[in-house]
Amino acid sequence: MIRWMARDVCGLPEGGGGLSTSGGSMATFSATVAARHNRLGEDLAGGTVYTTAFAHHSVAKVARLAGIPAAHIRTVPHAPDLRMDHHAAAAMIRADRDAGLRPFLLVATAGTTDTVDPLPELADLARREDVWLHVDAAYDSGGGPGGRKPHLVSGDTVLNEWMAVLWPCDRRRS
Ligand SMILES: Cc1ncc(COP(=O)(O)O)c(C=O)c1O
Repeated sequence: MIRWMARDVCGLPEGGGGLSTSGGSMATFSATVAARHNRLGEDLAGGTVYTTAFAHHSVAKVARLAGIPAAHIRTVPHAPDLRMDHHAAAAMIRADRDAGLRPFLLVATAGTTDTVDPLPELADLARREDVWLHVDAAYDSGGGPGGRKPHLVSGDTVLNEWMAVLWPCDRRRS
């Protein structure tokens, strides 16, 4: 079923895949732990996560459960339309890295919390800064067969919960 979803429904490239989870929070938790494992390995020191005040509250909670201290879960400013300010995100990531921290995960929202963050810009930022991008798209059918997927699947992107199917999926660089 996952293979069918990835290839035939969503058009993910070769190497795309996913897993089913019991809910949205667990999907984000899976994605956060995957990003942490991929970028930080066993040493979590300095690992830092970026999201906005309009992300679902589970984003910060699962980061804590994944071992990231509250002080390293950054709230990126948003524009008046509630979307993440990607320039501010870039500045925060750079400042944190200069200060010796290890930015590893940018969590964007494209779902049910009143906002859709600027995904193409955030995908570019994630690629430039070499951090994982997780798109929390809870119950957002637009992420699957809809027109936005070409943007969503570029870069190190993790999507979840398409079409109310609680399904984190990813495309990683080799
Ligand atoms: C954007 C978003 N992320 C995560 C969740 C958490 O999903 P769950 O309650 O299934 O854990 C929700 C729930 O509505 C949501 O809207």
